[in-house]
Amino acid sequence: MEIRQATTVAELLAAEHLYDGPAREDWAARFLAAAGHLMLIAYEEDGFPAGFVSGIEMLHPDKGAEMCLYELSVDESRRRRGIGRALTEALVAEARARGCQGAWVPVDTDNEAALATYRSAGAADEGGFAMLGWTFGGDD
Ligand SMILES: CC(C)(COP(=O)(O)OP(=O)(O)OC[C@H]1O[C@@H](n2cnc3c(N)ncnc32)[C@H](O)[C@@H]1OP(=O)(O)O)[C@@H](O)C(=O)NCCC(=O)NCCS
Repeated sequence: MEIRQATTVAELLAAEHLYDGPAREDWAARFLAAAGHLMLIAYEEDGFPAGFVSGIEMLHPDKGAEMCLYELSVDESRRRRGIGRALTEALVAEARARGCQGAWVPVDTDNEAALATYRSAGAADEGGFAMLGWTFGGDD
């Protein structure tokens, strides 16, 4: 398995089976062009994208840069082989290399697999949070 940072729209679209829904070419292009946005993809020897992790560097005057782990997913048929952990560790390493002060990830409290993966990659619990949202459903 090899983990590489995606640099083309084609690479992002080829990982679509790992996302929650269909990918859009314009959104993929916008993701690549956005400062501080990155996706690392784990490829098997035959080129199959087995998993991905995405991150966004967030900035704040009193916090410097922190890496938010946005999404992590491993193909269902490839789980429990260390890929999720390897992707998480790779993103954390990249955050360090970019000079981030730390990294964090929001996780559903009942997502045992994700909690185990982040803990095995060295994350510590930082308390519980409620998540609230607004949905606009706009075109972009
Ligand atoms: C979460 C997810 C990415 C884990 O990927 P994975 O490749 O199967 O994880 P790994 O094989 O690297 O496992 C990492 C650790 O978590 C543990 N783990 C993984 N799945 C687990 C499960 N279902 N229950 C308990 N522990 C689990 C492993 O035993 C391993 O522990 P260890 O390092 O101490 O041996 C995968 O389950 C997934 O894609 N889930 C759906 C998407 C999702 O929920 N993403 C997270 C959003 S926050």
